Amino acid sequence: MTDSRFLQDAWYVAGWSKDFDRTLKSERYLGEQIVFFRTGEGRPVALEDACPHRKLPLSMGRLHEDTIECGYHGLTFDCTGRCVAAPTQPGRIPRAGVRSYPVVDRYRLLWIWMGNPEHADERKIFPVENYGNADWGLTDGGTLDIDCHYLWIADNLLDPSHVAWVHLSSFAGAGTDDVALEVEKTERGVVVSRWILGQEPSPYYGKLIKFTGVCDRLQHYEMCFPAIGLNKSIYTPAGTGGRDMTVRPETYINISYHFMTPIDGQHTRYFWFQHRNTDPDNAEISRSMNEGACQAFEEDRDVLVAVHRGMQNMATPNIDLGLDAGAKLFRRSLDTLIRAERRI
Ligand code: FES
Ligand SMILES: [Fe+2]
Repeated sequence: MTDSRFLQDAWYVAGWSKDFDRTLKSERYLGEQIVFFRTGEGRPVALEDACPHRKLPLSMGRLHEDTIECGYHGLTFDCTGRCVAAPTQPGRIPRAGVRSYPVVDRYRLLWIWMGNPEHADERKIFPVENYGNADWGLTDGGTLDIDCHYLWIADNLLDPSHVAWVHLSSFAGAGTDDVALEVEKTERGVVVSRWILGQEPSPYYGKLIKFTGVCDRLQHYEMCFPAIGLNKSIYTPAGTGGRDMTVRPETYINISYHFMTPIDGQHTRYFWFQHRNTDPDNAEISRSMNEGACQAFEEDRDVLVAVHRGMQNMATPNIDLGLDAGAKLFRRSLDTLIRAERRI
């Protein structure tokens, strides 16, 4: 399933909240062109970026207080997308407006509901556990445009094995290549995980954990419908890890959050940040973690762009491996949701 069907009734990330202001910002998400701005009070607004008259992008127009005026003949739209002025024909305001999308600021990100606005419920925004907990440290995160279908990224985020080949200088480590994977279907998606017991930490985490010696390591790779990945790493002294582990004072936990928003079937915008249970105020640790993650995600980008191309231009059939079980389960389950939404 690498077509351009997307789950519509879902909150996707439209960008970092700080990047939306009183200017008109045009973005393409799920194949739809959308114009964003903030009202004078700072409330976010998202409208279809096409005037109903001659389809000039409204982002080429002007913001007047909390309305957008089309840059061609002045049709003017309020925050709900209703046409409120037609200067060329006083007294005859067209009934046609533009579509408006629900948008909400949360976790430093701007979230957009792409489906039926009546179904938009803020309680359905993906929950970031421990966000705001003063004991946890955050990285700034980043944004990456990747020229591939978002499900190739989803596959990657359900694939703990690729680190052994793609991320040699960061996340690779003993056991990341061949320790057996467990696949679990959950209410919100799929988890692929494994405990690697009694090994040295990976280069990236070796610098961050608060104990010495060999460790037990959890790779927890989770994809939540439709396009949010959560990658939890736990390091705990050897002998204290495993499925029934209890968190000890020295247990290190880092969660990388990955928010994918399809631009269309060939391009994806990818937002991410990390959240750890140590050093909440250590800016240097946050900076170096962010830098290391950026480098690793660039490594993924190179692979994923090439995979997208390779799978689109196959000269011979491709095969699946055992490691693909979780990714295939996620794709099948998401496809069922998309079909149910479209009633096909
Ligand atoms: S194209 Fe917008 S008013 Fe004519
Ligand atoms: Fe990766």
